[in-house]
Amino acid sequence: MRLDVFFGAHGLTSADVQGRVVVVIDVLRASTTIAVALAHGARTVIPFESAEEAITRSKSFERGQYKLAGERKNLIIPGFDLGNSPREYTREAIEGKTILFTTTNGTVALIAVQSAREVLVGSFVNFTAVSAMVRAAARARSDIAIVAAGSERHLSLEDTVCAGRYVRAIRRGLSDITMNDGAHAALQLEKKYGNDLPRLFVDASHGRTLTEAGFADDLALCATLDAHPVVPVYQDRQVTKLGPDRER
Ligand code: MLT
Repeated sequence: MRLDVFFGAHGLTSADVQGRVVVVIDVLRASTTIAVALAHGARTVIPFESAEEAITRSKSFERGQYKLAGERKNLIIPGFDLGNSPREYTREAIEGKTILFTTTNGTVALIAVQSAREVLVGSFVNFTAVSAMVRAAARARSDIAIVAAGSERHLSLEDTVCAGRYVRAIRRGLSDITMNDGAHAALQLEKKYGNDLPRLFVDASHGRTLTEAGFADDLALCATLDAHPVVPVYQDRQVTKLGPDRER
């Protein structure tokens, strides 16, 4: 079976994801925000590439049913209800709501892989829950692709290290796994940081940008390993939480 890591969604071909279980990672901050939103009771998260598409879709809902959410240049989109800070996604703010969500990189990566057999959203805050699901798929000899969303078409350190952590967990005790160079590289980089996620976010350029923009507290939240043990599944153009009411 294959276990590959790809950097960014733009160069992906359908052959890279078709028939595979795919994990999309945008640690800072879209995939963390999705995990927090679902953990705090959001009904569903619907990703869009553009703000205009999200606004158009909002017209098919009653006003109390949805939140328009997302960022451009890390800041809330004018007129939207929520930005992309996971700290905004409290139970009070989003329980029972449909989140119409657009971000610069994370939602674009999700939409790019929608033809995969199964798409999960991974981060550090839901690491063990998602990696257990992917390990089960790997044990059943399913091919796996991990998409480290990156930033503005460039590799990002935090997504690569998180991808390496997933690779390490998925391959543990399994043999006959063929990995691409991306998976080998992510694995090596992950060894450098281990559990020192604060240092990772200091080294990562997007971590520094978020700190300078006043979002340092978001970094602390994004580094809380397994704080929100949900498995977000992207299917039929929406992300919902795997659970008793949504079995696999
Ligand atoms: C993105 O999807 O580009 C990021 O989540 C940006 C951000 O940190 O808000």
